[in-house]
Amino acid sequence: MPRNNMPRNWEPPAPAWQSVWEQQADPLIAGYFGIQADEPALLDAWAQEAFTARHGPFAVELGRHDCREGGADHLYIAYWRRSHYERWWAHAREWWSDGRRLNEGVGYWREIITMPFERFETLHSTTEQHGIGASADGMDGPILEHGYPGGMRDRIPLSEFHDLRAAGNFDTRLESRNVDSGKRVLVRPPENMCVIRSGQNWSYCTGEEKAYYLEKLHPVLLEGMRYLRDNPAESNCYSLRFVDKKDNHWGPTEQSFGLGYSIDVHAFEEWAKSHATHIAIFRGFLKMVDTFGPENMKLRLWHEVTALPNEGCEFEYINCHPQTGLLRYA
Ligand code: HEM
Repeated sequence: MPRNNMPRNWEPPAPAWQSVWEQQADPLIAGYFGIQADEPALLDAWAQEAFTARHGPFAVELGRHDCREGGADHLYIAYWRRSHYERWWAHAREWWSDGRRLNEGVGYWREIITMPFERFETLHSTTEQHGIGASADGMDGPILEHGYPGGMRDRIPLSEFHDLRAAGNFDTRLESRNVDSGKRVLVRPPENMCVIRSGQNWSYCTGEEKAYYLEKLHPVLLEGMRYLRDNPAESNCYSLRFVDKKDNHWGPTEQSFGLGYSIDVHAFEEWAKSHATHIAIFRGFLKMVDTFGPENMKLRLWHEVTALPNEGCEFEYINCHPQTGLLRYA
């Protein structure tokens, strides 16, 4: 119908892509806030107040990771819209920049990533949602872009126009700034650095399926995670933390995730399709599907992936051991 035939008070209906547009205008933020200490009490004291303050995150999770160098990282994972994060951080930053953080005998780190809609994808093996997906209104699917190498990249909208390749190579030093006599280091992650949070949830598995997962698949997964962690230059993976998800009181859960940073999406793709460790994970999984049948399986797998934009990410390390996250490339 021509527009001039519309009633005077006619309003165009919100287009189907309205929510997509809103997401682009106000992208998602994932914040990882860690403490290197046997106990998380000092970070807890901050988090309990900060995360419930105005403009706080819409979702918070907890996890623990054993550092290769000994000791542990306790971490909070929190999600925001960018506009809220910025208002929140305007107040929350006071605690992080306080000189007392330098002398508490523990390390603190925060890794804040912007996840613009066009640089992001998340995939779930069932309709149950995890990570940022847990806060989504719903999900689409089943989808076509999966089950072949490169599927992850194809699901990132920008890949249609952009190769998403890193500008430098693995040896390029990352831009960084030392503050407070080097006790505080800020690192700028390079454009297109790929962040993956790849999760496993075996809490619904029972009996033989649970035993199969824990005895046959989980150990193979750990092998793959150790490979990425210990071979950064060969795999082009800057950092890999294998994290046990914790409940709200730091108690155990039956969930874990790998949090990985590689120079770009191609590096993870390469590892997934051609390295013996992910091939073993992949085959172990297919065998599990054969054994129990896809319709009976209770194992949940999911991931969220971002090819980082040039702006909007903050990586800060205070008193951390030198191998932490991106600190070792500063
Ligand atoms: C029990 C754990 C895991 C299982 C069973 C598993 C299995 C799979 C499967 C079946 C695919 C193909 C997905 C598709 O249909 O597109 C896949 C892809 C992939 N996986 Fe894993 N995976 C696991 C853990 C991980 C972890 C922890 C990481 C990284 C930290 C990872 C990285 C990847 C990547 C990057 C791809 C995408 C490859 C591409 O699209 O080219 N996986 N995995």
